[in-house]
Amino acid sequence: MENRSDFVSLRDVSKYFGSVRAVDGVSLDIAQGEFFALLGPSGCGKTTLLRILGGFEASNSGSVHIDGANLTDEPANLRPVNMVFQNYAIFPHLNVRQNIGYGLRQEGLSAAEMSQRIDEALATVKLEGYGDRGSTELSGGQRQRVALARALVKHPKVLLLDEPLSALDKNLRELMRVELRALQQKVGITFIFVTHDQEEALSMADRIAVMSDGKVRQVDTPEHLYEAPATREVAAFIGSMNFLDGSVEGAANGMVTVNAGPLGKLQVKPSGDGAPAAGEAVTIGIRPEKLTLLDKAPASGDNVIKGRLTAASYLGERNHFFVSVEGVDAPISVASQNSSPVDHKGWIEGSEVWLTWKPEGARLLLS
Ligand SMILES: Nc1ncnc2c1ncn2[C@@H]1O[C@H](COP(=O)(O)OP(=O)(O)OP(=O)(O)O)[C@@H](O)[C@H]1O
Ligand SMILES: [Mg+2]
Repeated sequence: MENRSDFVSLRDVSKYFGSVRAVDGVSLDIAQGEFFALLGPSGCGKTTLLRILGGFEASNSGSVHIDGANLTDEPANLRPVNMVFQNYAIFPHLNVRQNIGYGLRQEGLSAAEMSQRIDEALATVKLEGYGDRGSTELSGGQRQRVALARALVKHPKVLLLDEPLSALDKNLRELMRVELRALQQKVGITFIFVTHDQEEALSMADRIAVMSDGKVRQVDTPEHLYEAPATREVAAFIGSMNFLDGSVEGAANGMVTVNAGPLGKLQVKPSGDGAPAAGEAVTIGIRPEKLTLLDKAPASGDNVIKGRLTAASYLGERNHFFVSVEGVDAPISVASQNSSPVDHKGWIEGSEVWLTWKPEGARLLLS
């Protein structure tokens, strides 16, 4: 059976709190079985959008469909959806089994059926044998798993997760990323996961919606968001990127020439749908790892800029440099693997350096 690509569908959803546009005209289609992330800075409307999906918040306009049914006006308890909240609260006076079984009480199951469902949920989150533990006798990661089991035990069609890993320390968070992804693949439930941590979104999600100011700015796979961000804003949010401003001089042979003022003429491949018109203001975006640092000017070649090394740091598996370039506001960030020829030793801060990159290593961005 083909999984439907609009299993969860939001159409032009808006939500205002007084004059604050928490969610502003959002439309999204999420596929059945997809691990989908909503990524954006604090206050951009992620939780509000998730609460609208769960039926905990009514939108001012727009519609919500799940599995073909219009649920816009359906209350939370009648939606085939469960939510793991940002500050997941498990009940301290109940043990693990009671916590997991809590939401099943209304389902009219027999004691045996209920017990079986709880066992199954415990196994899914790898907490077999922990059923009788008091919930205060658990580690942070185990408590997180109880919260997940409590949502999964209801067999939702869609699971909404609001920053479920944010309360965990860094090591556990990284471990839980892998576990959560594996669990999602095993149960096959559509996951909609909210985070402001780009690494978390990149490492777990099939697709990511990047949000800011209540709007969805780009929806794409992690690879595409990193390699082909559509705008400067998205590029700056996903990983780090250097920006060089200029205007289009012309296009020929699949290459755009950008006049970058004091940096001269730079060559860049057009992004997607054709080249921009001559005279148009554009930004060239270059990831730190796409730049090569040189201690003398190359004999020839396009895309060479001169600068001054302001900082060189050794970071174990890689080296990191900052280069100040006349006419560019922010220092240019350069990263190189320690196994590459550009090692960290011998670079003297304050010395003249040259930066170069391949035209396909840069992105032409809309401002
Ligand atoms: N109940 C409310 N009343 C008034 N304003 C609200 C309410 N809930 C959210 N807001 C506002 O709506 C905007 C979006 O909030 P939301 O909680 O959705 O952000 P978020 O992306 O989840 O942020 P965070 O990453 O900090 O959790 C914010 O400006 C917030 O202050
Ligand atoms: Mg939030």
